This record gives sequence, C-alpha cells and structure tokens, in this order.
Amino acid sequence: MDKKQFQKQYEAYRTAVEDFLSKLFLGDTPGCERLYDSMRYSLLSGGKRLRPVLTLEFARLCGMEDWHCALPFACAVEMVHTYSLIHDDLPCMDDDALRRGKPTNHIVFGETMATLAGDALQPEAYRVLLSADLPSDRLAAGVEVLALASGAMGMVAGQVLDLSDGTKAEDELALLHTLKTGCMFMGAAELGCVAAGGTQELRDAARLYAMNLGMAFQIRDDMLDVTGDEAVFGKPIGSDKDEGKTTYVDLLGLSGCEKRIERCTEGAVEALSSLEGTEFLIELVQQLAKREK
Ligand code: IPE
Ligand code: IPE
Ligand code: MG
Ligand code: MG
Ligand code: MG
Repeated sequence: MDKKQFQKQYEAYRTAVEDFLSKLFLGDTPGCERLYDSMRYSLLSGGKRLRPVLTLEFARLCGMEDWHCALPFACAVEMVHTYSLIHDDLPCMDDDALRRGKPTNHIVFGETMATLAGDALQPEAYRVLLSADLPSDRLAAGVEVLALASGAMGMVAGQVLDLSDGTKAEDELALLHTLKTGCMFMGAAELGCVAAGGTQELRDAARLYAMNLGMAFQIRDDMLDVTGDEAVFGKPIGSDKDEGKTTYVDLLGLSGCEKRIERCTEGAVEALSSLEGTEFLIELVQQLAKREK
C-alpha cells in the first residue's frame, strides 16, 4: 500500500467518524444547552481519531463487508477517549489548558460542566455502541470489551498509577503506560474484530498489535512533551515535568526512547504476521513512530 492509498483510506475512516459524531448531542432538554455544547466542543475538536480508525480497519480485516456497520462501535471508543481527555486535563488531574490546539474543556465551560460532560459521555458511549445493527451477542461482547478497556482494570487504573506520587521504575512505568494508553488501543482494535464476528485468534492478534502500538504511541507522547512544537502537538510542552511525572524520557533518554519505539513497532508488525491484508495497519504503526502531533 503506497502512502497515497493509506492517506485516502485514513481520510475515509476519519470523515465517517466525524460525520457520525457531529450528529450527536443536538438535544433540546431545556437548561442543558451548555452541557451539549461542552460535549460537542471536545468531541468535534479535531483529534486524530486513531482509536476508531483501528476499530474500522480491524472490522474490515476480519471480513465485515461494509465497515460503516462498525461505526457505532468505533465512535463509542472515541467518546470514551474524549471523556478521558476532558477529565485528564482537569485541575485535579494534569491541570492543562491546551488540547488539540484549543483551550481545554474546563477553561471554556468551567470545571463543573467539564466534569459533567465527561460523565455523560460514558453512558452515552454504551448507548451508541448498542445502536449498532449487529447480532446481539456481538453487542454484548462489545460492551464488555469497552468496559474492560476503560474501567477499573484498564485506562482508569493507569490514570491512578500516573497520578500516584513518587518516581517510577521502568517496570512500573511499563505497566502504567499499558494501562492508561495501551488498554484503549487494545479495546479499540478488538472491538473491530468483535463487530465483524472475528475469531479469538484474530482478537488476540489485534490486541497484541495494539498493545505494541499503544506503548510506542505513549513513549512518543512522552518524547513530544519534551521536544514537541506546541503549535503542531496541540498540547503544552513540558507538562509532564511540571507535574513531576516520571516518563520514558527520564528513564531511557531521547535516543533510548527512539530505539524502544522501533522495537514496539516491530512487535506490532510481527503480531500481524499470520494475517492477510495488513498493509494499512503496518503503514499506520510505522507512521505513528515518527509522529509530531
Ligand atoms: C492523547 O491521545 C492521550 C494519550 C494517550 C497520549 P491522542 O494523541 O490520540 O489524542 P487525540 O484524540 O488525537 O487528540
Ligand atoms: C493520558 O496520558 C492518557 C489518558 C488516559 C487520557 P497523558 O496525560 O500523557 O495524555 P496527554 O499528554 O494529556 O494527552
Ligand atoms: Mg494524564
Ligand atoms: Mg495529560
Ligand atoms: Mg502526555
């Protein structure tokens, strides 16, 4: 797959996700307009849409004839991801004022509304997931995958470890990154397989690929927090240091991070070795290794 074809497919997925999300929360419950504005502000503020792209591509890879049928699964993951970012930026967590090149949700809408927007996005994600026109056993499995990825044994566990005091050793940081970032990527990839009725073998391969991608992604995030250009990255530079976080840059240095990202990227590619039609996923993980935003 050449870069042009990759870009075209990525754009098709991204546009479909944006279209789907843009139709949500146009609700008219009197007095709740600011809640809907706040939810839509973060949902439609131009993220990379990586997690839903993974869901849609794995659905296609697992034989779903029309990947659009997996859009409710894909958008449900993006909704949970969006809630996690709104809460992650709150003063009680990372206390950041810039996200995707714009003021964070609580800066625009205040802490109370930002908290509530994040709260509402979680159940709404499950409502959206369950609106998929798919067999009920796939819906039930999808709910479980998303709950496990984002809940007390997944992303939230990672956030707890991330916010715990003290410097971290490498094994602790690896676990933290796997939980806070890897779990959502693993869940997103697996959801695509579930939507398409893929086998356990496919689900396992998807999770292994996404675990490696997620680790590389978070190490790159730690690097960009040091070396990034705020105007491109869309987030404040130096935020991790200001908050006293241990990152992979502290443990391995920048060139050590690059080597580790390379290893994870190879691991992701290797996880797909028994499957056909994986060119898009290979190009994706290779491009992310060098991302600037
Ligand atoms: C940000 O994720 C949170 C991390 C896991 C580092 P993304 O970099 O995917 O955020 P958006 O959705 O593209 O803004
Ligand atoms: C956050 O990690 C991952 C989430 C679960 C939201 P970071 O705190 O490093 O993400 P950014 O840098 O704020 O996007
Ligand atoms: Mg954080
Ligand atoms: Mg943060
Ligand atoms: Mg970060």
